[in-house]
Amino acid sequence: MKTVKVTIQVNNEENVLQVKPYETLLETLRERLALTGAKESCGMGACGACTVLVNGIPLRSCLVLTAEVDGADITTIEGLMKDGKLHPLQEAFMEKGAVQCGFCTSGMIMTAKALLDRNKRPTKKEIVRTISSNICRCTGYKKIIEAVEEAGKK
Ligand code: FES
Ligand code: FES
Repeated sequence: MKTVKVTIQVNNEENVLQVKPYETLLETLRERLALTGAKESCGMGACGACTVLVNGIPLRSCLVLTAEVDGADITTIEGLMKDGKLHPLQEAFMEKGAVQCGFCTSGMIMTAKALLDRNKRPTKKEIVRTISSNICRCTGYKKIIEAVEEAGKK
């Protein structure tokens, strides 16, 4: 089968890969690069569990073809820890009890990271609007919103 050569930076590491033309970024991350933090839930762009940053923009990796993001800079939840220290969002999610089953968590955090990267002190309304397309079946969202607010103060 015909494959396509792509070069992607993932968490600051260059990866040169031969991928199938229809291979999703989520498949590439999880199955080729063993980065399983991005979760596959709906597989059709509805839940946000697979969200990663592509050139700083939060995208649903189940809807992105790897061949389309040749040359892109991709950040996954595995790339947030720096010098052995959790990212403030990761700390705040734990402190506030914003994680239950954890299936939505990496997508929530990556979506929230993109928000905090452009606005360190978002209003509650902005946080709600930003995470509203990420589905969480466990927490009721309140603690997630508090965690994002808290992370902005760190
Ligand atoms: S798994 Fe990608 S949006 Fe649900
Ligand atoms: S913590 Fe279970 S779906 Fe959000």
